[in-house]
Amino acid sequence: MDFKRSDFPQDFIFAAATSSYQIEGHQFGGAGPTHWDTFAATPGNVVRAENGARACDHYHRFPEDFALMRDAGFDAYRFSTSWARVLPEGRGAPNAEGLDFYDRLVDSMLDHGLKPMATLYHWELPVALADLGGWRNPDIAKWFGEFTEIIMRRIGDRMFSVAPINEPWCVGWLSHFLGHHAPGLRDIRATAHAMHHVLTAHGTAIQAMRGLGMGNLGGVFNFEYAHPADDTPEAAKAAATYDAYYNRFFLGGIFKGAYPDLVLDGLEPHLPKGWQDDFELIGEKLDWVGLNYYTCKRIAPNGDPWPSHEEVPGPLPKTQMEWEIYPEGLRHFLKMVHEDYAKGLPLYVTENGMANPDVIGVPDEARVDYLNQHIAAVTQAMAEGVPLKGYTIWSLLDNYEWALGYEKRFGLIHVDFDTLERTPKASYHALKAALAT
Ligand code: FCB
Repeated sequence: MDFKRSDFPQDFIFAAATSSYQIEGHQFGGAGPTHWDTFAATPGNVVRAENGARACDHYHRFPEDFALMRDAGFDAYRFSTSWARVLPEGRGAPNAEGLDFYDRLVDSMLDHGLKPMATLYHWELPVALADLGGWRNPDIAKWFGEFTEIIMRRIGDRMFSVAPINEPWCVGWLSHFLGHHAPGLRDIRATAHAMHHVLTAHGTAIQAMRGLGMGNLGGVFNFEYAHPADDTPEAAKAAATYDAYYNRFFLGGIFKGAYPDLVLDGLEPHLPKGWQDDFELIGEKLDWVGLNYYTCKRIAPNGDPWPSHEEVPGPLPKTQMEWEIYPEGLRHFLKMVHEDYAKGLPLYVTENGMANPDVIGVPDEARVDYLNQHIAAVTQAMAEGVPLKGYTIWSLLDNYEWALGYEKRFGLIHVDFDTLERTPKASYHALKAALAT
C-alpha cells in the first residue's frame, strides 16, 4: 500500500465490514424467513436465484474470520444484526439461539481485539413484517424500536458504536422505486413512504438506545457523485435532482429538519400524511456520521415523469460491478457532510472497496490500487479539516452481493463457495503490512 498506519492519528480506526444476511448463513440457528429469501426465490430477481441460506457460514466459522482480522491488524469490525434471527416473526417472542449467537459473536470480536461497530438493520426484513407492508407501514418505526431494544439489551453494553439502518437510500429508493432489491417494488408512493419511515425508524431506534443509556450512536448513509452527462442546464438539473434524492434527502431530514425542494418536486404528493411533524423524532441527536462510498454516475435528462433522467455510461476505469472508479467523489462527500450537515461531529468511512473477478493465485492488484486511491482522497480531506476518525473496507470476505449473487467478489479474503475455504488475497497481505507500520 502507499500508506502506513503511522501516517494517521494514533486513535484512527481501520476496520472491515460485512452484514448478517451476506455472510452468516440464514438457514442456521432458528432465524425466521426474510423478504430477501422470497425475493431471491422469485425468478428474475437475483442472478441464478442465489440466496443467503448458507453464504459464508460465518455463523459457525466466525472465530476463524476474526482471527484473520486480528492477524491483519484491524482495530474494529463493522457487522450487522439480523432482525429475523433475533425475532423470527419480526415481533413477539425472541429466538434465544439468535440472541446467544450475537452475544458469542461480540465476545469473540472483543477477544480478537476488534471494536464492535454494529448496524441494526442491513436489509433482511422478516417476512411477517413485509406482509404488513414492511417499510410502507408507519408502524415499522415502533417495530424497529422494539427490535432495537431487545438486541441491544443483550449486546449493547459491549458496543463501540451503533447505527440503526444501513444505507437508507437503498432501503427506500433502490428497493421501492427501482425495484432492484427486496421487496422489488417500482412505485413512487411506496418509495415516498419507505424513505420517510426509514427516518422515523432511525429516530425511534436512537431514542430506544439512549433510553438504554448507550452512547456513540450514528447513522450510515451511501453517496454517489452525480456528474451531469453534458454541460446543458437540463443535464445540470438532472444531476442535481439525483444528488438531492440520493445524497441529501436523509441528511436533510436528520440535520436540517427538511427535505430538499428538488425531491419534494416529485415526492411531496406521495409522502405519508403528517410527515412535516416527524422531524423532531428524525432529528434525534447523533454522535457521528458514517459514509459508504463506491462510485459516481453520469446523469442525463429524459422525457420520463419525475425525476426525468437516466444514467449513461462514463469514461473512467470500472470495477467488476461496472462502477466507475472516482476517488475524488469520496473527498467531495467527506467535505460536504462535514460542511453542510454534520459540523462538529466525527465522521467515519463505513464502507469503501471494489469487486474484482478474483481467483486464487492471481494478486488482486486492482483492489490495492483502488484502496490506495481512496485512502489518498481520505488523507486529503483530513488535511482540509474533515474530522475523519476511521476508514472501513467493504468487505472482509467475498459474500452474497444481493441481486448479483455470489459472482461479485468484494472481499480482502477469497471464499470458495463450494468448500467455504478462506484464502487471504494480496490486498489483505498489503494491508497487513501497512497496518503493522
Ligand atoms: C453497499 C452495501 C453492501 C454491499 C456493498 C457492495 O451498498 O451496504 O451490503 O452490497 O454495497
